[in-house]
Order: sequence, then structure tokens, then C-alpha cells
Amino acid sequence: TGMFTYDPGFTSTASCESSITYIDGDEGVLLYRGYPIDELADNADFMEVAYLLLNGELPNKEEKDKFTHDITYHTMIHEQMVKFFSGFRRDAHPMAVMVGVVGAMSAFYHDSTDISDPVQRKVASYRLIAKMPTIAAMSYKYSIGQPFVYPRNDLSYAENFLYMTFGVPNCEPYKVSPVLAKAMDKIFTLHADHEQNASTSTVRLAGSSGANPFACIAAGIASLWGPAHGGANEACLNMLNEIGHVDNIPEFIKRAKDKNDPFRLMGFGHRVYKNYDPRAKVMQETAHQVLSELGINDDPLLDVARELERIALEDEYFVEKKLYPNVDFYSGIILKAMGFPTEMFTVLFALARTVGWIAQWGEMIEDPTQKIGRPRQLFTGSPKRSFVKVEDR
Ligand code: CMC
Repeated sequence: TGMFTYDPGFTSTASCESSITYIDGDEGVLLYRGYPIDELADNADFMEVAYLLLNGELPNKEEKDKFTHDITYHTMIHEQMVKFFSGFRRDAHPMAVMVGVVGAMSAFYHDSTDISDPVQRKVASYRLIAKMPTIAAMSYKYSIGQPFVYPRNDLSYAENFLYMTFGVPNCEPYKVSPVLAKAMDKIFTLHADHEQNASTSTVRLAGSSGANPFACIAAGIASLWGPAHGGANEACLNMLNEIGHVDNIPEFIKRAKDKNDPFRLMGFGHRVYKNYDPRAKVMQETAHQVLSELGINDDPLLDVARELERIALEDEYFVEKKLYPNVDFYSGIILKAMGFPTEMFTVLFALARTVGWIAQWGEMIEDPTQKIGRPRQLFTGSPKRSFVKVEDR
């Protein structure tokens, strides 16, 4: 009973008021607190972007130094948490490990789970932003059987993450290439927030019941994992591998257009961007920089990616349906070139998006108009009927 608006996929429902991120899908515009994404990616580092998303303004030098100091103060994880990893299989998907370890953080950091206290909310937020790279790098190290590398707080956020991922203790000192560190930083910035997407809405919905922030972010990680969302970067690379050679592209394009075939071109299309994805533009340039830094010119997978992009941009079906390469199309190529295994791609997305999730969660908690999220339904089941005993059925 009752009249509700039916809006599957929430394509026309606003769930909240927000002053964090603005998207104009027709114009290909993405602004964080008013600043265009390409200007931020080119000029700001990830700590400035995080500060901006959380506080609404870019930090001055002093504010930036203090914020960076406060974040790096929390980069270590509790030694008991380090033991978690050994409970997982070595071949576990790192996203499964992330959901588990982040979800369990509230068991270690009780002193920042009282969401009515602004100081505790801030500490929980900083802990999450600071510890995500450590947890992500540890999930990788565990999967390849190498010892964990503890954070180095003299490095930038991106450098430290690359160091914990690719550095090997007691071996050759790991030198972080400035080009790769900058690329990593840009990838983090481009993924930091994207208004009310599936995972962010999940974080808000989980948080609307008063759940602690660690549990909420774990819920966001779970939602991000799917191939239609954050999992698309991994799915895209797997698809490029499956295509294998430029000669096979027409067959896959044909399948993508076939209504009876569930296959989709991963890394193409977006719910909101129907012109182009402004993040993809920055990512495309970064991909060129990274590949030339690493001296990669003739990777067959790259040939497939370039040719797929060329064909799809000209193909009538893709043009008509406004399906353009999205951020995940290029990020996968960059991350592969940098040496990340495909299973880590979505983990890196989760790491960066944690900042946006926290900013959105904090905004919701402070918004007096927000209530528990509780959608209604259009009931399509049986009308009322009487119970029949099992012998009589
Ligand atoms: N390949 C082939 N056909 C497609 C694709 C694709 N990648 N994407 C959409 N279509 C078709 C779809 O079949 C539908 O056709 P019709 O109107 O004839 O039924 C039409 O285009 C509209 O698609 P939709 O599924 O109704 O659109 P949506 O807004 O619900 O979906 C999307 C958006 C991103 C889920 C979808 O485009 C998709 O599945 N893309 C591939 C996965 C991907 O790359 N996701 C990453 C998105 S960006 C980062 C992120 O959000 O995490």
C-alpha cells in the first residue's frame, strides 16, 4: 500500500544535499569543491586534494604541513592486525582481504568509533586515510610471499605506497621514480571522489544507521568491488588479455553490440558521462608519460587497447549510445605497466576513494536533515493467504 516513486537504479533520485563534488555529465565536467579535476591532477598533490575534499578549501602551506604530519602519524597498523593477513589464503583476492581487514579496524580502534564526538570522527577519518596504503601494500606482499614493508613517513603518500608495495627489505634500496610517483598521485586524485556513485551511496546508507566509520568504509569497499563499478579496471585488463590480438577486436566489438550476448566492452560507458569522462583525458596523457618513462613501446596489450579505442570511437553503435572510454580503461594500462597485478587495480581505487567516502560520510553525519536511509518498494508477491501444514501441501 502507499504510493511511492519507482526509480530502479536511482537514475532520477537525489538522496542527499552535498557540497563536495559536482558532475555535469553532458559537458564532461568534474569539480571537487569547485576546482576542475584536470587542474587538481596537474597541480595539487593527493594530500592537498584530500584536505580539500574533507575541509572544503585548499590548505595553505602551514595547514598542509600539519595535515600531512597528522596523516603520516597514523600510517602504521596495530601489530595484532598484521597477524590477520596470515589467516587468509595466499591466493585470496586482495579485495576480499581489504573488506575483512578494514571491517575489523573498529575492533582495534574503539577510541574513534563514537560518531557523536567530532574529535573521534576526525581521528577515525585520518586513521582510515593513513592506513589504507599500508593495508593495501600488505595484502599484495602477502600474496607474493614477501615480507611486509613498514611505512616510511619521510616519503609522500604516493611514494610511500609504491615503496611499501615494490620495496624489498634488506635488498637493493628501492628508488621511487618521480614520474611513477607523480602518476600514482594523479591516479589517486582522479579516483578520490565522484559524488553519489554506488559505493559512496553504500557508505552513506550504512552510516545513516549510525554504524562506525570503519564498518561503513568496509561496506563501500564491498560495493566498489563489482565489475560494473570499481572492478571495471581489473575486468578491462582481463578483457584486453582475452582479446589478445588486434585481429580479434572485430569479433569482440560484434559481441558487445549483440543484445543476446551479455558481453560488454569493459572500460567503456558511464551512467553520468555521456560526452566524455574528464578523468579519462588526464589518464590518457598519464598513460603516455608512464609508458615512455618505462620504455614500453611494443606491448601487444597496448596495441589492442589503442586499436579498440580507435574502433569504438568511430563505431556507430558506441557513438549513438554515447559510450566513451572511461577512467578505468586507461588506469588499467598504467597500473599494469607500473607492475601491479590486475587483482590490485580495484584495491588502488578503494585506497583513493576512501578520501571521498570519508568526506561524504562526514558531511552526512553533520547534516541535521539526514535520517536513516530506508527506501520503500513496490510489492509484487502473493496477497495474504492462510498457512497450510506440510502434510497437506
Ligand atoms: N559495452 C557495450 N554496450 C554497452 C556498454 C558497454 N560497455 N555500456 C552500455 N552499453 C549499452 C547497453 O547495452 C544499453 O543498450 P540498450 O539501450 O540498447 O539496452 C545502453 O548502452 C545503456 O546502458 P545501461 O547499462 O543502461 O547504462 P547504465 O548507465 O546503467 O550503465 C555502466 C553504465 C558504466 C554500468 C555501463 O556502461 C557498463 O557496464 N560499462 C562497462 C563497465 C565499466 O566500464 N564500468 C566502469 C564505470 S566508470 C568507473 C566506476 O564507476 O567505477
